[in-house]
Amino acid sequence: MLTGADWWKKAVFYQIYPRSFKDSNGDGIGDLAGIIEKLDYLNDGTPDSLGIDAIWFSPFFKGPEHDFGYDIADYCDIDPRFGTLADFDRLVAEAHRRGIRVMLDLVVNHSSSEHPWFKESRSSRDNPKRDWYIWRDGVGPRRRPPNNWRNHFFGPSWTWDEATEQYYLHSFLSQQPDLNWFNPAVRRAVDDVVRFWLDRGADGFRLDVPHVYCKDEQFRSNPPFYRRAKVEQKMPFGDRPLTITLFYLFGLPEFQVKLFNQHHPETHLVLQEFRRTLDEYPEKTSIGEVVSENSQITASYYGSGSDELHMNFFFELAHCRWKAGAFRRCVERWERLLPEEAWPAYTFSNHDIVRAISRFGGGRDADARARLLALMLLTLRGTPFIYYGEEIGMKEVRLPRRLLLDPVGKKWHPFHRGRDGCRTPMQWSGEPGGGFSAGEPWLPLGPESERRNVAVQENSAHSLLQFYRKAIWLRKERPALITGSYRSVVEGVPGDCYLYLRESEGQKLLVALNFSARRRELELPQKYLPSRMLLSTDSPRPAKANARSLSLGRYEGCILEVGVRSSQEGALLARSS
Ligand code: GLC
Ligand code: CA
Repeated sequence: MLTGADWWKKAVFYQIYPRSFKDSNGDGIGDLAGIIEKLDYLNDGTPDSLGIDAIWFSPFFKGPEHDFGYDIADYCDIDPRFGTLADFDRLVAEAHRRGIRVMLDLVVNHSSSEHPWFKESRSSRDNPKRDWYIWRDGVGPRRRPPNNWRNHFFGPSWTWDEATEQYYLHSFLSQQPDLNWFNPAVRRAVDDVVRFWLDRGADGFRLDVPHVYCKDEQFRSNPPFYRRAKVEQKMPFGDRPLTITLFYLFGLPEFQVKLFNQHHPETHLVLQEFRRTLDEYPEKTSIGEVVSENSQITASYYGSGSDELHMNFFFELAHCRWKAGAFRRCVERWERLLPEEAWPAYTFSNHDIVRAISRFGGGRDADARARLLALMLLTLRGTPFIYYGEEIGMKEVRLPRRLLLDPVGKKWHPFHRGRDGCRTPMQWSGEPGGGFSAGEPWLPLGPESERRNVAVQENSAHSLLQFYRKAIWLRKERPALITGSYRSVVEGVPGDCYLYLRESEGQKLLVALNFSARRRELELPQKYLPSRMLLSTDSPRPAKANARSLSLGRYEGCILEVGVRSSQEGALLARSS
């Protein structure tokens, strides 16, 4: 197991969506016992496994699952669909035994409307828990909602509650009422939840939408999107040019500048308190899902670099265009913006966005592109997060509307089909049920599951899965890839290639990525010679020592060790071949 206060900087993380990973009892829903069965696949201590160091679990706590786990009715219990607290303890023990750390999803911007806290809160205006949530009177004789805020899915943020004749606030579904983070009792209750899981062996948390925790205390209405330019001038970090898309010009209520219902300064104090709790325990970590179009705002959630979140996803990388320069500039911007001590974290896929292999397109070249992305993810400076199935190139599944279950696609969103397509069951094998379940899976398997699965890729030396394994285990052996510095290399590099150096004491690695469908020849500057090929996405490739020019095939990426001192050469050659 990785140890030390900064283990999470060295770790490769893997996100499991529990419903879809492995079903142990044939009810079609993945569960904790199923996950335990598959831990060896993630890390059995040898390069025949993926070599994962930590898992972030999407929520498996008790709740009605209107938003599949993101609406929690009991923060301190496991939903019976997934197992029991005893299963959880076993999961932690079994994961730790394999050197895998356990990260839980902390969903505390809102609870489920079934949570006893909310049930009490809504029971009467003078209930002691009334103020644990956000209640407001209607406005005017027609009792209209208190302001124009829209929820993040679709529709208003306010729902009228007949019983006590007030509105309550929800930034997501109406079944997900927002907690009132200005109430100290709420903060204490959440702190208890955090301690409950830390005491039970969790190694940290992924924070669900922390930027939404605190809202404007005056509940001012948000400005419409077309006034955004004006708003940005007034915002503390408003220095980035606007990206106005056509949608926003329609002036629909959804398209507003979320000025007053997110990124409130008080949230930083909440996160500092959270950090102090984590720091009371040894070797804990956190990662936030802070979303902002302004990277400076995103970066601000690191605080000074060590007093708020340990990490925050930089989603901009996931949303880059397929262009070497776009990726390079994105990484450079983040490297520039982060405070000295802050540590980046990257991902290309998760349970909310279209799977990367489908999003980045490429048609028949999609697999080659997926390899290139994998190499980039595993060699940038920062902690990589792999989404389950990404390692076998699982694609977004296009489901007919009648099979959609995610509320975003099912009834809430007029434009998109929701997120079910990236949440389909893990494709373990070509058997019926995909090796995921002996029963009927809760969502259909992807149409390619017979061909594209773990069993097939385990038996093929050059599969994507084998490439992930190689790259991850190589990473573990090369400190330069983990703690080394990052520097882009631009001189003499063709516009469709992205090159960077990762350098640590006595070790210099050059990562070269070709984003084009054409072969590219690069002259290596004298100072990088001699060089040696450590890994290529086009395996196998002979290690060409001392070659001055580097020829990259279409969508090929590779890692070169450069400026190798001759005393080390023998040993390195042995390891790379
Ligand atoms: C986050 C989660 C998403 C969920 C939402 C509300 O964005 O990743 O799945 O629907 O928060 O909790
Ligand atoms: Ca099950």
